[in-house]
Amino acid sequence: MNQFCEITPELRRLAAKSAECSKIDPELYTRYDVKRGLRDLNGKGVLVGLTEISEVSSTKIVNGESVPADGELFYRGYNVKDLIAGLPEDSHFGFEECTYLLLFGKLPKKHELRDFSALLSSYRTLPTSFVRDIIMKAPSKDMMNTLARSVLTLYSYDEMADDVSLPNVLRQCLQLISLFPLLSVYGYQAYKHYHDGASLFIHSPKEEYSTAENILHILRPDSKFSPLEAKLLDIALILHMEHGGGNNSTFTTHLVSSSGTDTYSVIAASLGSLKGPKHGGANIKVVRMFDDMKANLKDWTDEEEISRYLTALLHKEAFDHAGLIYGMGHAVYSLSDPRAQIFRGFVKRLSAEKGYEKEFALYTAVERLAPQIIAAERKIYKGVSPNVDFFSGFAYSMLGLPVELYTPIFAIARIAGWSAHRLEEVAGGGKIMRPAYKNVGEHKIYVPMDERV
Ligand SMILES: CC(C)(COP(=O)(O)OP(=O)(O)OC[C@H]1O[C@@H](n2cnc3c(N)ncnc32)[C@H](O)[C@@H]1OP(=O)(O)O)[C@@H](O)C(=O)NCCC(=O)NCCS
Repeated sequence: MNQFCEITPELRRLAAKSAECSKIDPELYTRYDVKRGLRDLNGKGVLVGLTEISEVSSTKIVNGESVPADGELFYRGYNVKDLIAGLPEDSHFGFEECTYLLLFGKLPKKHELRDFSALLSSYRTLPTSFVRDIIMKAPSKDMMNTLARSVLTLYSYDEMADDVSLPNVLRQCLQLISLFPLLSVYGYQAYKHYHDGASLFIHSPKEEYSTAENILHILRPDSKFSPLEAKLLDIALILHMEHGGGNNSTFTTHLVSSSGTDTYSVIAASLGSLKGPKHGGANIKVVRMFDDMKANLKDWTDEEEISRYLTALLHKEAFDHAGLIYGMGHAVYSLSDPRAQIFRGFVKRLSAEKGYEKEFALYTAVERLAPQIIAAERKIYKGVSPNVDFFSGFAYSMLGLPVELYTPIFAIARIAGWSAHRLEEVAGGGKIMRPAYKNVGEHKIYVPMDERV
């Protein structure tokens, strides 16, 4: 191990001191009515802003009272279910269409979508030598860090980097939307080459391809993919591209934008947030958890055995010992996450096409059993159901996408939502965000160095 990574006894002693002075009595949160996680127990977030970009709903009013309901997601007022159902079966440009909708507030007409897709294509070119000088150097094992580093470095290549006028911010956002697939996939190729000795290939994107098609084209050695594969990836991008202003990474976009800083700094911060396993990093955990489950279960169809494994997860006795069943639960959704429901249908189709019916049956059993087991073991306020990550990891594994790219694919999609929110924050000329933290520690009399005991 590198000497800088070593956890010495000295560090352990200091960490214990740090932990000792970092404990806040949980009771104080109730006393001062502080919403932990900036949410009520029913999942409703503390209201911190207004937006017209999207809406996440998880409750309905019955007899004047708000009660948990099936989740719904709207982009600029359109139900995402309708947006996906309305796409022609052979279209792979749904992500571009919905990006247009998020950024400009209207569904594009045919020629508007064509021109917008061409504009994105024209921006899908990295600065000369960027791949060689930046992406190939010191490749990191986590592509989210590689992506963030590339985004921060693009600042140095932009002569107008600090200009926060709306047209310039829009230009930067469109360029980042176009470049994210290249930065992510090339970062992965570099890592596989330098760490695992895999052959290095860098395919150039194709002008006529959509974002989903280009991802498959530049990732695969032979560049080949089927229409259903491109369709499923396009749907995955639509389902991940936006989720209201309050999700952790989009709130980061608003928060950091409100300080007046540049687009690259904002997006790098949002990437840092999305990387977290409680946010965008959960889909990797879902797949690894299922790998562990499949290796440990004798019979994938035995519900009792599956239940025992799930209970062991909650008791921190299986997989990563975190006490979580990944892919279950959501900060806001209660009875259902609409994204998981939409995804489910496409995943079922692909699992039949690819011969993964046995895996799909196991996912279905966990989908049914896990909420009951969590409810039996934890205090449930609003209900727990499968979230979008429950099926996305499975979908990506059937598409042959490497695990290292699961969260970057989330980022490739979510940059569209971040961009819309950054533009809304900049256009609105909002105030710098500065919430409050109440000090619950005591005031103390200063003690000179020689008198400290
Ligand atoms: C997303 C998540 C952080 C939301 O947590 P939350 O806001 O506390 O959700 P709830 O209020 O509904 O949770 C109620 C209780 O059930 C527990 N719970 C919720 N989902 C759980 C899960 N997947 N596994 C184990 N326990 C879970 C919570 O920890 C909480 O118990 P606690 O008060 O003892 O901590 C949580 O569901 C989770 O960690 N899920 C697994 C990770 C994941 O899939 N993330 C992707 C989100 S899209």
